[in-house]
Amino acid sequence: MGKIIDGKTLAKNIREEIKVEVLSLKEKGITPCLVVILVGNDPASEVYVNSKMRCCHELGIISEQFKLSETTTESELLAKIEQLNQDPSVHGILVQLPLPKHINKQKVIESINPLKDVDGFHPINIGRMMTGQDTFLPCTPFGIIRMLKDSGLEISGKYAVVLGRSEIVGKPIGQLLLNENATVTYCHSKTTNTADFTRLADIIIVAVGMAKYLKADQVKPGAIIIDVGINRLEAGLVGDVDFTPVSEVASYISPVPGGVGPMTIAMLMFNTIKATKGLTL
Ligand code: GUN
Repeated sequence: MGKIIDGKTLAKNIREEIKVEVLSLKEKGITPCLVVILVGNDPASEVYVNSKMRCCHELGIISEQFKLSETTTESELLAKIEQLNQDPSVHGILVQLPLPKHINKQKVIESINPLKDVDGFHPINIGRMMTGQDTFLPCTPFGIIRMLKDSGLEISGKYAVVLGRSEIVGKPIGQLLLNENATVTYCHSKTTNTADFTRLADIIIVAVGMAKYLKADQVKPGAIIIDVGINRLEAGLVGDVDFTPVSEVASYISPVPGGVGPMTIAMLMFNTIKATKGLTL
């Protein structure tokens, strides 16, 4: 039976560290401020945004939410972002994804001042991540790396397999694992022999968005399993890993809920403090 990686407790420890940083900034007369923009009424997005706002509140970070209607035009959204870019009291800007189809997501991401891009989605910040420079790292991949390190797990020299190649999780976590000197393979919906790779992997990151996708017979005994999935079934919330059987084979496994989710939010708080202190590009 593998050990459970308790993301909830690890994230709480990170938040305690951040709380101290917020207090010291406040002593200097600076209060960190994160603005979150939500366009439309996607129920999952509303839940995520509310958790982010609640976490800011807990840490003493000012958080402001702009809820824009589903019919907001791209130019209205871009004008709002420009106003926030210019506002020196705003340190971090986050536009919750997905956006309605009539809005060009890439154009919106690229309109955010890279120095306020706490999601780490701006191409400048992605480029800086790829070249291993100091920058805002995307929160979920950053949280996964932090989770592995805080659990005392070695990444260097390990064979890591990433299942999924989304812009938000799959692609960047592969890059961050490579930056930590892992050997990395990406598998995705067009990969024909995924299990041939996962059966060799020391670390498997599962971010495919399919309930209980990774099965125990696809995992090497002793592997480390990180589950990024959030699937809402009638029976409740489940990850992308068939948890109970896989946990029998793995050495370490992150649960859903209580794994990667709380880490993602903690790293958003970390990035907000980094933005407040000022990143030098
Ligand atoms: N939607 C799902 N995950 C994320 C995230 O990390 N950031 C933003 N902005 N939107 C998301």
